[in-house]
Amino acid sequence: MPGVIISALGCYVPPAILSNHDLEKMVETSDDWILQRVGISERHIAAADVATSDLAVEAARAALAQRGIDGSELDAILVCTVTPDMMFPSTACLVQHRLGAKHAWGFDLVAACSGFVYGLTTAAHLIRAGTHKKVLVIGADTMSRIIDYTDRSTCILFGDAAGAMLVEPAEPGHGFIGFINEVDGSGGDHLKMPAGGSRLPASAETVEKRLHYVKQEGQQVFKFAVRKMYETCQALLDRHGLTAKDVKVLVAHQANRRIITATAERLGMAEDQVIINIGRFGNTTGATIPLATRDAIEAGKLKKGDIVLFAAVGAGFTVGASLWRWEY
Ligand SMILES: CC(C)(COP(=O)(O)OP(=O)(O)OC[C@H]1O[C@@H](n2cnc3c(N)ncnc32)[C@H](O)[C@@H]1OP(=O)(O)O)[C@@H](O)C(=O)NCCC(=O)NCCS
Repeated sequence: MPGVIISALGCYVPPAILSNHDLEKMVETSDDWILQRVGISERHIAAADVATSDLAVEAARAALAQRGIDGSELDAILVCTVTPDMMFPSTACLVQHRLGAKHAWGFDLVAACSGFVYGLTTAAHLIRAGTHKKVLVIGADTMSRIIDYTDRSTCILFGDAAGAMLVEPAEPGHGFIGFINEVDGSGGDHLKMPAGGSRLPASAETVEKRLHYVKQEGQQVFKFAVRKMYETCQALLDRHGLTAKDVKVLVAHQANRRIITATAERLGMAEDQVIINIGRFGNTTGATIPLATRDAIEAGKLKKGDIVLFAAVGAGFTVGASLWRWEY
């Protein structure tokens, strides 16, 4: 099997910060409650004239600069997002144009919080097929555009950001080890944005009923996430004859600190094997995995040759885990 490596990583976080104390002035909540129940202190919010493609292009440029190439060398661009600039054209098309990626095709991948993990799996197989040499996976979301800032159960959770990883071929035995992705559509009602699609197109009534915002049954999602994130990680490790001790770091989707620590505990991982940066960014949906990977590298916790386990659970429900040897 040919090798597939992640060869570069770039991130972009918009500068403006929305702190728990800011939220205390907007809804009935407290810094204490948010920190204890979720683990977030602050999140970043995009300026009013900034959309998802703007965040995505910044992250993409950072990844390309790190690799020392320009957009014209890309073969494909996958934008993992639930907040595209518009329904169509896809955000991938907008990004392709701005990067000058004239040889790339691409598409948006809608898998909510599992988007980036699905994107890595897809890119790995485009490379393995031998038909692509450079695939850019971008996770980008402007969650603040679909959050109801009068709903305290959701508005405290989310932030805006983007991250990108470049995926390329390598010698056998390098990089990508394996994955498990699953969907359980029976959970679809627990986390969704009800209006704006073909089921409930935008109307005065959908706006009045605030149906263009995220609706979540938090406890249902929490229970599913805690169970599936552990089960999927363990099954993936078993499949490859590995144990938690072989993994240098778990880079999990950042939705709730308690979901990540419960997963790590059940896997038998030590505290320093787990990357948690939800405190600074909140849940940035498609961008959490690259942002947390960047933090792992900057903290010296992820180095060339280490095994990293990516894991996510999201709306759908969607579930994904993938194992990689880190190669730079
Ligand atoms: C959303 C979440 C943080 C809520 O935490 P929880 O412990 O489940 O809290 P509950 O929803 O049971 O609410 C407990 C109480 O806190 C209250 N509450 C909810 N949000 C609050 C807030 N921001 N501040 C203060 N109190 C709040 C509720 O109204 C409820 O009050 P009640 O007991 O008087 O009815 C948690 O369920 C969660 O993280 N779910 C998964 C989210 C997720 O992963 N989403 C993305 C998937 S990728």
